[in-house]
Amino acid sequence: MRLGVNIDHIATLREARKTFEPDPIKGALIVRDAGADQITFHLREDRRHIQDEDVYKLRTVIKEIPLNMEMAPTEEMKRIALDVKPERITLVPEKREEITTEGGLDVVSIKDYLEEYIKDIKKAGIKVALFIDPEEKQIDASLDVGADAIELHTGEYANSKTDTERKKQLDRIERTAKYGKSIGLNVFAGHGLTYTNVQPVAKIREIEELNIGHSIIANSVFWGLEEAVRKMKRLILEARGEF
Ligand code: PXP
Repeated sequence: MRLGVNIDHIATLREARKTFEPDPIKGALIVRDAGADQITFHLREDRRHIQDEDVYKLRTVIKEIPLNMEMAPTEEMKRIALDVKPERITLVPEKREEITTEGGLDVVSIKDYLEEYIKDIKKAGIKVALFIDPEEKQIDASLDVGADAIELHTGEYANSKTDTERKKQLDRIERTAKYGKSIGLNVFAGHGLTYTNVQPVAKIREIEELNIGHSIIANSVFWGLEEAVRKMKRLILEARGEF
């Protein structure tokens, strides 16, 4: 199973101060060297984290593993994707007011539009995945519009409040993953996966890739905080000859 690491929230932190650090490109190199199988990023319409410049730099720097560009199916994003040429794009729904991608793309309701949209992208040799809720009708529509893959939204599983609900959502993910694979689509999953809830999803054999962002970036703060404090304290004491 492949792990795609979503680096958006390195940029979220940088944008909070509109400064130069932490640099998502440097983050992508660390992610690559740590064994990730793919760099995933979401260029949002409002540019709240990843900026256009980051996307172009990522393309220059990351050669060994694929780039997966998440984007809304707009003309602006298509133009950028065709220019940058990531190995894959994942089409996601986008609302300006949302904190994160709250649900899957309603492929059924924009089938004709997506069919044309996807044609142009595939012509450029870029693979297309659709981020959808785990529902058979969305999977059928994804195949119809020419997608190569689906990414099942695991948010409802991740947000489940009870064991019964979690089991129900997991069964739903498993059932739809099997269905997607049986009709010839590549099946991925992601959203809201953490160090405590990832394993039941990782056990589903039909899912070949997980994309995880927030939990990895969130935990990296704690796994690196001690060293960051030590280094700063040392610099300060050294400057005063007190080290
Ligand atoms: N996959 C897709 C398509 C996404 O939009 C996101 C969030 O940007 C993720 C995976 C990662 O979700 P999380 O940050 O909750 O791990």
